[in-house]
Amino acid sequence: MENLLLSKPIKEKRTVELAQEVEKLLKGGIIPNLKVILVGHYAPSLIYTRNKKKFIESIGAKCEILHLKESTSEDELKNLINQLNLDHLVHGLFVQLPLPTHLQKIDVGNLIVNDKDVDGLSSFSFGNLLNGHRGDHSLIPCTPKGIIEILKYYKIELTGKNVVIIGRSAIVGKPLSLLMCNYDATVTLCHSKTKNLKEHTLKADIIISAIGNPRFLTSEYFSNNKEQVVIDVGINHDEKGVLCGDIDFDRVQPLVKAITPVPGGVGPMTILGLAQNLILAAKNQSEKK
Ligand code: GUN
Repeated sequence: MENLLLSKPIKEKRTVELAQEVEKLLKGGIIPNLKVILVGHYAPSLIYTRNKKKFIESIGAKCEILHLKESTSEDELKNLINQLNLDHLVHGLFVQLPLPTHLQKIDVGNLIVNDKDVDGLSSFSFGNLLNGHRGDHSLIPCTPKGIIEILKYYKIELTGKNVVIIGRSAIVGKPLSLLMCNYDATVTLCHSKTKNLKEHTLKADIIISAIGNPRFLTSEYFSNNKEQVVIDVGINHDEKGVLCGDIDFDRVQPLVKAITPVPGGVGPMTILGLAQNLILAAKNQSEKK
């Protein structure tokens, strides 16, 4: 359909560019190298990390998944991170979330050195967003980075637009609200305690949902003037096990100017953002030497 914001053409274009960047680094003796720490057996994380590795390798860079057992202790995890922080052959490092319950109090973003924080979850990365960065030269969280890529590719202007973000997670909603602000949008950050959510979404030019609730946003949340742009970050399974986003896609798509599908919208952009961060991290580290 005409109004779909698909990630496929963006990923294809950017993959070629990233492979060229990797080739340049290889010529300079640098092999961009990502380490992924995966703890336990949470099924979606097994799939996500495998997909990340596959894409990183497809552009010619290195990626290893370090799969630790469910019962890994806090000290074991911290020691591994420290060891990788010090390894000059490692340019990027992240811990796949969620961690098993007994490790969830650990602030992993801040255990990883700033230069290698390809997830953009450290206080340093958040500080950069507060200082107006747009992620061109510094590491910012991958999903917000991917959403900006979609909007740029489809020439959707952000300056002066009313953007409503639903979901205040540290990985999507909060950093995205700062990033959109840095692109001169007027941002409203809504969440589970927001009153009259509809009042916000009905007035928005761009609605971005990252709540993780299958088809939560039904047609009543949208204005039916074919002017609104909708970005769906949700990756959910409904009661029948069908993959779906936060938006009731079939009913909302005819009402809006443009919408990302699930799958094929934001999901692949997160992986692209990670690869872009890895290359940026490798370049930044090589320039420091
Ligand atoms: N789990 C789901 N998405 C992500 C992500 O972008 N980074 C990490 N570290 N864990 C995740």
